[in-house]
Amino acid sequence: VPLAADEVAVCYQLTEALDASALGAMAAVLTVEERARRDRFVFDRDRRDFVVAHALVRRMLSRYGETSPEDWRFDTDAHGKPSVVTSQAGMPPLVFNLSHTHGLVACAVARGTSLGIDVERVDRMTLGPEIAARYFAAAEIRMLDTQAPEAYAGRFIELWTLKEAYIKAVGTGLAHPLDSFAFAFEGESGLQFAAPSGVAASDWQFLLAAPTANYRLAIAVSGSAVRPWRVTMQRTGPEAGAAVRPLRWSLPLQGLGARGSGLGS
Ligand SMILES: CC(C)(COP(=O)(O)OP(=O)(O)OC[C@H]1O[C@@H](n2cnc3c(N)ncnc32)[C@H](O)[C@@H]1OP(=O)(O)O)[C@@H](O)C(=O)NCCC(=O)NCCS
Repeated sequence: VPLAADEVAVCYQLTEALDASALGAMAAVLTVEERARRDRFVFDRDRRDFVVAHALVRRMLSRYGETSPEDWRFDTDAHGKPSVVTSQAGMPPLVFNLSHTHGLVACAVARGTSLGIDVERVDRMTLGPEIAARYFAAAEIRMLDTQAPEAYAGRFIELWTLKEAYIKAVGTGLAHPLDSFAFAFEGESGLQFAAPSGVAASDWQFLLAAPTANYRLAIAVSGSAVRPWRVTMQRTGPEAGAAVRPLRWSLPLQGLGARGSGLGS
């Protein structure tokens, strides 16, 4: 299934139930350098999520590009953002971004744009107003202050994943001040972006989804009103194809589209 010109393809995988043989098969497509990076993690669960994430990137790229999973090569820019080497990226160039959090990894792929993805656990830590005050924009802090206690963690993580997805798309990482731009939620599914100064809000599109009740996933993709993106989302692994709940998206992005067969487990 080729990648459509307007498509942002997202795959995610829950990792906690994977067994050693599944992990072994995934590790087989990693390079020597990637396996060395894996081996530097102290905890098994971090090694596991690293292997699943990097195998997922390689398998996804091979689904849309002309290179086999173990042969993809990557460049890393000054801020650490990896990209496919020019000679393998094709035209318009294949772009990707990956994210991992305990128990879930996700990868997004598109052509000829800037792309960022972030996944977070809703229960990952105690998230309080002190952290919000330190990182979020004033309007975001006001929005959080109006939340009922049981809704607070969800809204906090939704803002956080959107903000991380944007700085990962831009590529500057946490060097980018997180309070220089903001997201606002409107109605059932609306999402507004207040861009940093010098950036046009209409040049960016966003989607927020809940792969499961305890995770949030956000996508940021560059493209103006004449280039509306369509996100397709797929779960890989034993329960491939389980429905994903889109929560919010910004216009002109066209919400969540369907996609055919999965990558297998
Ligand atoms: C990029 C960054 C925001 C990622 O945050 P995170 O939520 O912890 O991690 P995620 O799982 O979502 O994303 C990590 C992946 O994004 C990619 N990535 C790394 N740097 C990136 C960047 N600057 N922009 C976009 N993507 C990046 C990598 O593929 C990485 O996975 P890998 O390490 O397994 O190869 C953060 O690490 C960062 O700001 N890095 C910039 C460098 C920096 O400031 N370092 C000082 C750290 S205090």
